[in-house]
Amino acid sequence: KPLIVRTVNELRAQIGALRKAGKTVGLVPTMGALHEGHLSLVRAAGAANDAVVVSIFVNPTQFNDPNDLEKYPRDEATDVALLEPLGVDIVWAPQVDEMYADGSDTKVTVEGVSEGLCGATRPGHFDGVATVVTKLLLQVLPDTAYFGQKDYQQLAVINRFVKDLNIPVEIVGCPILREDDGLAMSSRNVRLSDNGRVLAPVLFQTLSETAAQIDSGNEVVSAIQLAEKKLLDAGFEGIDYLEMRSADDLSPMTEFDRPARLFVAAFLDGVRLIDNVVVKGR
Ligand code: PAJ
Repeated sequence: KPLIVRTVNELRAQIGALRKAGKTVGLVPTMGALHEGHLSLVRAAGAANDAVVVSIFVNPTQFNDPNDLEKYPRDEATDVALLEPLGVDIVWAPQVDEMYADGSDTKVTVEGVSEGLCGATRPGHFDGVATVVTKLLLQVLPDTAYFGQKDYQQLAVINRFVKDLNIPVEIVGCPILREDDGLAMSSRNVRLSDNGRVLAPVLFQTLSETAAQIDSGNEVVSAIQLAEKKLLDAGFEGIDYLEMRSADDLSPMTEFDRPARLFVAAFLDGVRLIDNVVVKGR
C-alpha cells in the first residue's frame, strides 16, 4: 500500500529514508481523478526508478476559472486504489494550507513558451503551474519527474524553468493516451454529457485530418480555417485556438518548414478540451 503523506516535514523524512537506502526517486505530479493517462506516467516512473512518489494536489493557483476549480473531480480513495497495484511508494497529498502555508508571495513566471495558446486564454495559469511544480520538485527532490505531452505547452514551460533555474532533475515527456475512439484521456471528460462524449472524438479526428492535409502540401491557414468550421459544425460551442506551432520552442508557424504540432482548445458542453498532434512531414 502506498504511504499517504500530508505534511512537508513527513515527506522529507520519508524521502530521506528512501535516499539513505540508496534508492532513486521518480515523481509524477497530478491533480488526481486519475485515469490511464496518469497511470502510464506512473508506470514509466516505476520502470526507471527504485521508488515512485505520486503527488495529488488540485492546485488552486492555476485555475483562472473558479467554477472550473469547484467542479474539478476529486476522489482520493479511488486514486489511491488505482495506484496501489502499481507499487507506488508515496502518495503526497497535502491540503491547500499545507502547500501554501504562509499564503505565499513568490511566483515562478516563464516568458516565451508560456505566451499564446493556453497562456493567452488562461491568464495566470502557467504561473500557477510553474510555481506549484517548482515547489513539488523542491519538496520531493526526485531524480526524474514525468509529465504528459497531452499538456504540451505545460511540458515546454516546465522544461524551460527547470533549465533556467538549474533545478537538478530530469524531465521526461510521455506520449498522449487516448480512448479507443481517439479522445485524449482527461479528468474533465467525465463532465461531458452522453451526447458530448459521442461528439468529442471529432476533436482528435479533425486535428489528425488537418495535420495530414498540411503534411501533403495544403496551405496552412486555410486548412486551419476549414478545421475550425468543422468543429463548430459538429457541435463544439467555441474554439479558444487552433494553431500550428514549432514542436521545439512553440513559436507560431504559418508555413510548414520545420518540425511542427497542431494545438487545439475547444469547448463542448461547457467543458474545455485540449489536444495536440504532430505534423509529420517527410
Ligand atoms: P493533471 O491534469 O492531473 O495531469 C497530470 C499529468 O498527467 C500531466 O503531466 C498531464 O500531462 C498528464 N496527462 C493527463 N492526461 C494525459 C493523457 N491522456 N496522456 C498522457 N498524459 C496525460 O497537469 C496537471 O495535472 C497539473 O498542471 C500539474 C502538473 C499536476 C501541476 O498542478
